[in-house]
Amino acid sequence: MRAWCIVVPRERGEEIRRRLMDLGLLHEHLRIVREGERLLLPTKERVDLGFPTEQREFGTGFVAVRSYKDVVEVPDALRRSLPTSFDVIGDIAVLKIPEELQRYREQIGLSILRWNPKIRVAVQDRGVKGERRVRSIEVIAGERRTTTVHTEYGLHYRVDLAQAYFSPRLASERKRIADLVLEGEVVADPFAGVGPFAILIAKRRRPRLVHASDVNPVAVELLRANIGANRAARVATHEGDARRILRQIAPVDRIILDLPHTAFDYLPNAFAAIGARGVVHVYRILERADERAAADRIRGMAAQAGMEIRDLQLHTVRAYSPTQHHVAFDVTVVRASHRADPDRSPSASRTSPTKETPTTGRRSGRTVRRSEAPGHRSRHSARRR
Ligand SMILES: C[S@@+](CC[C@H](N)C(=O)[O-])C[C@H]1O[C@@H](n2cnc3c(N)ncnc32)[C@H](O)[C@@H]1O
Repeated sequence: MRAWCIVVPRERGEEIRRRLMDLGLLHEHLRIVREGERLLLPTKERVDLGFPTEQREFGTGFVAVRSYKDVVEVPDALRRSLPTSFDVIGDIAVLKIPEELQRYREQIGLSILRWNPKIRVAVQDRGVKGERRVRSIEVIAGERRTTTVHTEYGLHYRVDLAQAYFSPRLASERKRIADLVLEGEVVADPFAGVGPFAILIAKRRRPRLVHASDVNPVAVELLRANIGANRAARVATHEGDARRILRQIAPVDRIILDLPHTAFDYLPNAFAAIGARGVVHVYRILERADERAAADRIRGMAAQAGMEIRDLQLHTVRAYSPTQHHVAFDVTVVRASHRADPDRSPSASRTSPTKETPTTGRRSGRTVRRSEAPGHRSRHSARRR
């Protein structure tokens, strides 16, 4: 079919193609022609964007794009190495690209932008590093930015992928934990990142207070912005090391230790920060064979902290590698010295004894379970579980 076209240098092709799409001027059913370093973008009329224009024949035949792989140009021998899945955070596609495809990374990124126009940036993730779990990020196509707004369970989180940790893969785990929170609880989220656990709990449950903190100042800045943007009341923010923050805010009823590689190191501090009774959710990357030993370690640390374990459940969050899993241990503990009269504890004294709330927390998980002895249900423990 004969049509007008705009002739642009190849490196500006994606930008101008999007601009024409936004203007409704791109002939989407005609094939874009590549001539050396120039791209000829077919348009519905003569368009003046400061580039040469001409009329010529274009091939027709619209082929539905099922995957970015349908549009990417890489040598056939390398097609099998193309990433089969990737995260989308806000409008940013986050890819891991194998070494053999590194020289084609821009084409891969551009193909993703073409395949899904809602994605405006493609970045390469070279891994999460250091205590702050920040990704090493390289923008490979689209707008030059690493910030976006990601929506999860109707809440909006501003993230900066190059400066603070965020992963959309933990969304259902965050929901699982939020669903366990009972009315009136004081919750601590000392590895809060940009706030997806804390804000979900504050917005969807009825805690007394959620303490959210992180050692990374950029994460805390985003956390505070996200609390404001989502109008999340009842979240107190702090900046600093988890151990210090837990000491400052104790006693609390529930603690989320979301730092899978080293969270066990913080368990003594978490047990010390729990009031008369409470729950610690501690994350770990584990081989299946090591689960029992990890549970025993938790029991040992609880005993050392003067806590009695009432319930210990393991929940698999997701596969982490072919042999490892990201797991959560939900540990319900009672302070041994308060067993007889838990209402004497400082955290108990903060909660109104007249405001009993029936248990709404959903229990899930498997193995290592040690349930509370039947009949042992003080009014306080009924409220907590
Ligand atoms: C795996 S990320 C979890 C982020 C968040 N919970 C989420 O779901 O997105 C762990 C976070 O812990 C923070 N962190 C690491 N060591 C810390 C420490 N000693 N004290 C406080 N925060 C720490 C990191 O900066 C990072 O934001």
